[in-house]
Amino acid sequence: MVTRGAERSFYAPVDGELQELQRRLLQVGNGGHPTFAAAVQHLFGSPGKLLRPTLVFLSARFGPSTDREVVLNLAQSLELVHTASLVHDDIVDEAEVRRNVATVNATWDDDVAIIVGDYLFAKAYALAAVLPKPEVIAIVAQTVFALCDGELNEVTATRELPTETAYFERIELKTASLYAACCQGAALLADAEPEHVAALGAYGTSLGLAFQITDDVLDVAGDEVDFGKAVGRDLAEGMPTLPMIYAVDEMADPALAARIVAPGKSAAEVRELLRTIRASGGVERARARALAFHDDAVSALDALPPRPERDALREIADFVVSRVR
Ligand code: FPP
Ligand code: MG
Repeated sequence: MVTRGAERSFYAPVDGELQELQRRLLQVGNGGHPTFAAAVQHLFGSPGKLLRPTLVFLSARFGPSTDREVVLNLAQSLELVHTASLVHDDIVDEAEVRRNVATVNATWDDDVAIIVGDYLFAKAYALAAVLPKPEVIAIVAQTVFALCDGELNEVTATRELPTETAYFERIELKTASLYAACCQGAALLADAEPEHVAALGAYGTSLGLAFQITDDVLDVAGDEVDFGKAVGRDLAEGMPTLPMIYAVDEMADPALAARIVAPGKSAAEVRELLRTIRASGGVERARARALAFHDDAVSALDALPPRPERDALREIADFVVSRVR
């Protein structure tokens, strides 16, 4: 069985479900072209943190329904949506490494990665289609719309620094929507009280915003081996993120904005700009913003009854802003 950082105590209440999920994920590629099976082994052999399915399993504990199979289907569906979106995102980014292993596009090629991503999406929809509640099936579909919207927003962005608000709108679509779907969708499936469904949805959104800001901070200030992917890629591509937006504001330097959004930088230019941004105070401000979203996520949990699963959700929020990978 693959590992997922078992030292983290927030996995403990749902360990059985996570083990079953990992077993099922490894089988997703079976029965078709052998490249699907090879790509699936490649992807789920190093499955990442599995935060999204962990959120599904924990959130489902806040309702009276206990149909384990239904909750597993939602968790698997949303993890497949997530993985498919990363496979496609790595093509867009021309990324070579993710989770410390070669990406699908680097291991095979872009054509294979497009089709593997499509295959994983289709598998995700097949699982969503048998969920017993149409409103949860709709949440899965709307989450995919949001991911596409956020990604296209990023890909087609004009070459200028976005406002802080525009940045938050983008990351809500491309990242936080999926976190919210995990929490809210699971609570709905479990027949949780409407106020608990709403609280879990709000928790998921704030958690997702804190996660993405931290990811963007790590791309500027993280360690490549810990992070599991290259550092400085956003800057190399001219993709402005929150620490960069704050760096320009802190330094009151419009010329810095123009340098940040310039595409196709050399490695030396990226190193120099990373030094400038790290010294500007922008990273600390972005970390503080992530902590504020962490606090919003934790406050949303106050509406839930006290139980080990609520403690685990709190620990996930703490982990998301303290992580180095
Ligand atoms: C990773 O973020 C990418 C996403 C969160 C969204 C990717 C979405 C798509 C490719 C749209 C297509 C998806 C579907 C569902 C059809 P990032 O690029 O900030 O992080 P990274 O540094 O890990 O690449
Ligand atoms: Mg990317």
